[in-house]
Amino acid sequence: MKSESVVIIGAGIIGLNVALVLAERGYASQTTIIAEHLPGDTSINYTSPWAGANFSAISASDKNALRWDKIGYNHLLNLAAKDGERAFVRATPSTEYWDEMPSRMKLDSMASYLKDYKEIPKKELPQGVAFGITFTTITINAPMHAHYLLQRLRHQYGVQVIRKKVSDITSGFLNKDTEVVFNCTGNAARSLKGVEDPKCYPTRGQILLAKATHINQSVMRHGKDYETYVIPRPYSKGNVILGGYMQKGVSTPDTIGEETKSILSRTKAMLPELDSPDTEILAAFAGLRPSREGGARVASEIVQVNDLKRKGLIVHNYGAGGTGFQAGYGMAVDAVESALVELQILQPNSARTIRSAL
Ligand SMILES: Cc1cc2nc3c(=O)[nH]c(=O)nc-3n(C[C@H](O)[C@H](O)[C@H](O)COP(=O)(O)OP(=O)(O)OC[C@H]3O[C@@H](n4cnc5c(N)ncnc54)[C@H](O)[C@@H]3O)c2cc1C
Ligand SMILES: *[C@@H]1O[C@H](CO)[C@@H](O)[C@H](O)[C@H]1NC(C)=O
Ligand SMILES: *[C@@H]1O[C@H](CO)[C@@H](O)[C@H](O)[C@H]1NC(C)=O
Ligand SMILES: *[C@@H]1O[C@H](CO)[C@@H](O)[C@H](O)[C@H]1NC(C)=O
Ligand SMILES: *[C@@H]1O[C@H](CO)[C@@H](O)[C@H](O)[C@H]1NC(C)=O
Repeated sequence: MKSESVVIIGAGIIGLNVALVLAERGYASQTTIIAEHLPGDTSINYTSPWAGANFSAISASDKNALRWDKIGYNHLLNLAAKDGERAFVRATPSTEYWDEMPSRMKLDSMASYLKDYKEIPKKELPQGVAFGITFTTITINAPMHAHYLLQRLRHQYGVQVIRKKVSDITSGFLNKDTEVVFNCTGNAARSLKGVEDPKCYPTRGQILLAKATHINQSVMRHGKDYETYVIPRPYSKGNVILGGYMQKGVSTPDTIGEETKSILSRTKAMLPELDSPDTEILAAFAGLRPSREGGARVASEIVQVNDLKRKGLIVHNYGAGGTGFQAGYGMAVDAVESALVELQILQPNSARTIRSAL
């Protein structure tokens, strides 16, 4: 069995979604994931467990971002309906407020697919809010959902998983069978040897994990220079995530006491039910969104693999910023399609190697 013809570097939500799309298309037995961190781990260099996570209008307004969101939303809504409890995803009522009017193009795109999308009448908006919507969002228990994906990839599909840190991009070409390497390295894309991408930068967030069994809706407010949100964690026995921050270029892993206070006062003002003896703060965390100027990079690149004395295909898929959970499946579909086009592998288990495709 050639289980090393497709290698994915990274087991965050981006790498896991790439593996899922490959598995769904019949390539599981040829796929290997290599990652320094796996679901279950916590590190400031592993962003995925720190996400809220929800689907929100936070993403950019370019065509790619809008399309990835739409594919991601439909995928997650379907998963919530079919296997929500095991996958730790749930359809949840949500309200979003903007202090400044968001782009019409983005609202029109969201209105076209979000379930129960409604614009809130002006007179019902809180003070200082210019625009608001209600819709059905998807809330995701980020660490448990990542764990679910890994288990499914391993046990349902038989994807091989190796824990290892690689020193540069071409070490993903494990042996002569490796035809394509997916680069899903998150924040490491800035520094990892190979194609150091200067457009990448971290966007720090601090969040609070609280127990508040009485909260069952998601609320967020996009301010000019702040982000405030309350997101219930599905199938967690009543935990909610309170946030937050969007600090461009900041990479400190510490949690800051004043930020904790600010999160508490902002979320309580936004959702007064939180201000109750039933709300218990359990912990504060910081995470670094892997951001990139111009948006995520999903693109193929042919490189020379010196150790193998031939060319190889790398498919980049990093820079998901604050949207890896909501857009990750859509990004994975594009990444896999780009690889298949490049490789001209039309059939699963095709014997064609990259050399004949190049
Ligand atoms: C506070 C906060 C809230 C968020 N909320 C949301 C939300 O509600 N909705 C949403 O969609 N998104 C949200 N996000 C964003 C989301 O978490 C990220 O977009 C996503 O986790 C990025 O995933 P990734 O797979 O690119 O990176 P990561 O999860 O960081 O994974 C990177 C992987 O690459 C591996 N790796 C890196 N370098 C190497 C190497 N040299 N060798 C081997 N392995 C390597 C790592 O070990 C890891 O497995 C939030 C983020 C934060 C911080
Ligand atoms: C995180 O990654 C950076 C850059 O690669 C490294 O310098 C740092 O030591 C890592 N931190 C931890 C806690 O692993
Ligand atoms: C809600 O979602 C957006 C993007 O989907 C994300 O950036 C934001 O941080 C989320 N809030 C939480 C608590 O995860
Ligand atoms: C991934 O891409 C980034 C940016 O182009 C590069 O710095 C890094 O070396 C690549 N890593 C891997 C493992 O492919
Ligand atoms: C949310 O909780 C309130 C009060 O506990 C309840 O009346 C309402 O039906 C719940 N809504 C959903 C969608 O579960």
